[in-house]
Amino acid sequence: MRKTAVVYYSKYGTTKKYAGIISDELGADLFEARNIKFRDLKDYDTVVFGGGIYSGGIGGIELITRNWYKGLNEKKVICFAVGIAADSEENRQQCLDINFKRRFVTDAEEDHGREDLSASELLKEKRLPIRCFFLPGAFDPCKVKGRDKFIIGITKKMIGDSPEGKYLLDYFNKGCDLVDTGKIKPIIEACLQHHI
Ligand SMILES: Cc1cc2nc3c(=O)[nH]c(=O)nc-3n(C[C@H](O)[C@H](O)[C@H](O)COP(=O)(O)O)c2cc1C
Repeated sequence: MRKTAVVYYSKYGTTKKYAGIISDELGADLFEARNIKFRDLKDYDTVVFGGGIYSGGIGGIELITRNWYKGLNEKKVICFAVGIAADSEENRQQCLDINFKRRFVTDAEEDHGREDLSASELLKEKRLPIRCFFLPGAFDPCKVKGRDKFIIGITKKMIGDSPEGKYLLDYFNKGCDLVDTGKIKPIIEACLQHHI
């Protein structure tokens, strides 16, 4: 019998909700990322990690990326990220590049003779091979306080009046609830497949 852990990092509860449903469906143990250490995952064959997206970063993802070559790469690891930005190919790639990079700068020696590749392509090549799904989140402007409120203010200024950012500006101003629990199905299926 495979042992599965579902670990989540959630500031406002959306990711927690998804993680709870996923762990129920899989009969898995559920942990809040803040309460565990990597060693607590050693007896699990499958680890599902979910984190809210905050300014492009998946909350708590270091638990996975920092420990990837310390044994996590031998387990089945499935991540999911919860955000309100449109689920486009461009946004997905950007999120993967930000969160699963192996390092910021390219290694000059290793990349010798690869001048044909742009810096961003090299960065993509160096991404950790971690599977990540994207789930739609929620945002309530009344619940955001302190530093997050400040960050949202800056983000809104950066979006400005760009037409492609209009929907996000509306979400940040008026709030949104895009949560769709039907979207967890591919995550459950990926967990139940036998190969890593
Ligand atoms: C400070 C802050 C920054 C955010 N930045 C992003 C972002 O870069 N991309 C995105 O898609 N959603 C962003 N969001 C929206 C959250 O990802 C969304 O609210 C998500 O549901 C949060 O998960 P949680 O409820 O588990 O905390 C941000 C929310 C906050 C509060």
